[in-house]
Amino acid sequence: DKNDKLEILKNAIKSYPDFPEPGIIFRDIFGVFHDIVALRAMKDLIVEHILVLEVDLIVGLDSRGFLFGPMICMELGKPFLPIRKKGKLPGKVTQQKYALEYGEATFELQTEFINEGTRVLVVDDLLATGGSMAAAVQLLKSVGADVRECLVIMELTLLKGRDKLSAPVHSFVQYD
Ligand code: PRP
Ligand code: ADE
Repeated sequence: DKNDKLEILKNAIKSYPDFPEPGIIFRDIFGVFHDIVALRAMKDLIVEHILVLEVDLIVGLDSRGFLFGPMICMELGKPFLPIRKKGKLPGKVTQQKYALEYGEATFELQTEFINEGTRVLVVDDLLATGGSMAAAVQLLKSVGADVRECLVIMELTLLKGRDKLSAPVHSFVQYD
């Protein structure tokens, strides 16, 4: 059942102290991709959660959000759009600078694929300070999107990233 799947998922996520810098405990989502039972459990959990969401578009954040977006698209029958770190996307883009748990970056979004009222689900592997997700939500709202939910696998709750977001958040695994 759902709790068994959550346990399998949790056990497949490995933690690495002091990576990429001292004081950070890195939670590595690729452990899940290395374990096919855990990968199926994660996919089942995501699919079960999103089937009730009414969205027109799935947006994934560079780079680990790209692992989940297309997986979810197949199930929902909806298109995928990436938000990428700057300088990678062609055409007309809008950009937003942000800070994250370690460092800072700039995100870009291609504006041609979103209209006023487009209902969006945003996906990523992890919510830490929420800097990345907040920048993504801001970019999407600036072009008129209706951000229905921010979906992450892991959430670092002590960093209170969800307080930065003006959209509902769902996470499957929480760490202090
Ligand atoms: C990581 C992670 C999230 C973000 C979370 O990505 O995949 O996108 O940090 O941190 P925040 O909530 O403090 O913003 P990173 O920018 O390291 O890029 P990567 O996916 O290319 O490794
Ligand atoms: N992105 C930001 N903080 C992270 C962490 N602690 N583990 C993995 N990815 C992250």
